[in-house]
Amino acid sequence: MSRTNRRTDPKSYFVKSFGCQMNVYDGERMAELLDAEGLAPVDDADAADLVVLNTCHIREKAAEKVYSDIGRLRRDDGSTPMIAIAGCVAQAEGAEIPRRAREVDIVVGPQAYHNLPTLVAKAARGEDALDTDMPVASKFGALPKRAKQAPSAFLTVQEGCDKFCTYCVVPYTRGAEVSRPWKAVIDEARALVDAGAKEITLLGQNVNAWETDDETGNRQGLDGLIRALDRIAGLERIRYTTSHPNDMTEGLIRAHGEVDALMPYLHLPVQSGSDPILKAMNRSHSAASYLAIIERVREARPDIAISGDFIVGFPGESDEDFEATLDIVRATNYAQAFSFKYSARPGTPAAEMTDCFIAPELADERLQRLQALLNEQQMAFNQQAIGKRTRVLLEREGRKTGQRIGKSPWLQSVHLDTDEPIGTMIDVDILSAGPRSLGGAMPAEEAA
Ligand code: 5AD
Ligand code: SF4
Repeated sequence: MSRTNRRTDPKSYFVKSFGCQMNVYDGERMAELLDAEGLAPVDDADAADLVVLNTCHIREKAAEKVYSDIGRLRRDDGSTPMIAIAGCVAQAEGAEIPRRAREVDIVVGPQAYHNLPTLVAKAARGEDALDTDMPVASKFGALPKRAKQAPSAFLTVQEGCDKFCTYCVVPYTRGAEVSRPWKAVIDEARALVDAGAKEITLLGQNVNAWETDDETGNRQGLDGLIRALDRIAGLERIRYTTSHPNDMTEGLIRAHGEVDALMPYLHLPVQSGSDPILKAMNRSHSAASYLAIIERVREARPDIAISGDFIVGFPGESDEDFEATLDIVRATNYAQAFSFKYSARPGTPAAEMTDCFIAPELADERLQRLQALLNEQQMAFNQQAIGKRTRVLLEREGRKTGQRIGKSPWLQSVHLDTDEPIGTMIDVDILSAGPRSLGGAMPAEEAA
């Protein structure tokens, strides 16, 4: 990347994150870094001196979107802001990005973004500003303290993945599985609660593989961490995502039945219901072992909402394989789900299986059938809430005046009219249900 144009030091910034919740967390941390440098946040890319696009590389569509987004940053007078590409596309494509999009000033990978201020200074001097290192030393120590916090906060506790599912870029873009140390996580959780968080969602690509020694040298898994966080006064809700079936330990399953603050929601991707496809995906679990875990989790916490991820049209997927996916969906009964058409990612083993790629039309048709079934289950799950009184954490203002939006324990969005401040936990009577959200009202005796 060789730049000839010196730029002035940016005074304002705008960060836009795409993809998973880990990127949302990283985006917030980058904003805090820029705040600490004295840059002012603005709500609109057009008004910003520096625009950070925090990108996602998981599927081709997401990765290609970056380039059209970069193009859209050009202003009416032909100028562009200083542009930083962060996230997984930055990691995967590195110096290729400014070669393809000359207006890009900075490329910074997910393990290097603590260096963003240095990179901004370099770019302002017209120097190359690329950092996609994956240092062993953690970036977390170099990040500023957490600032004022919304009621629901993300906290990254684990990053990377050693599972190497054959379709997935994560082991390459986010690197090997690393667990953040016990004390760092507990301290950050305390700081989040002190700053106003009532709920913390622990994040990791394989969050349930999190494991470290605690302060007394005892080995702790995610369940130990959850139990420790449960003792922080003022922290009312704990969630975690994303989990791998193979790391669903007995202790973690038990915690679902024993820790009140641990919300009754489990995102446990299965990807496919066919054993031969699971094998080709290198998932190292079977359909039956997945269902056995779901059964144990439901024994521990009968009202738990199960969520999942699915890929249709994986190379070699036959009609029979796809039917097995529909079967596992019927057997599990999902409250929420995310389903995707297989997307061949450069550098992954499945991208080499070109002799058995599935025709895009067939994959489309399968995706539609799967989504119809999942939507039906999600709607049925939401409808069960009607007529019940539910605990809701108010998280933000709604679009209409007087409207607030909160979350049920089962991660459903709940819309209602109330004057109660954001951050309050209240009882709400659920009156209506849609595929994506619930409508409710304050109980009559309290609304008076
Ligand atoms: N194609 C389609 N979907 C993918 N996912 C990961 N890699 C791919 C790919 N190459 C999906 C998986 C994963 C979710 C985050 O994205 O379902 O769980
Ligand atoms: Fe990707 Fe599989 Fe790791 Fe999940 S477990 S991040 S799907 S390689």
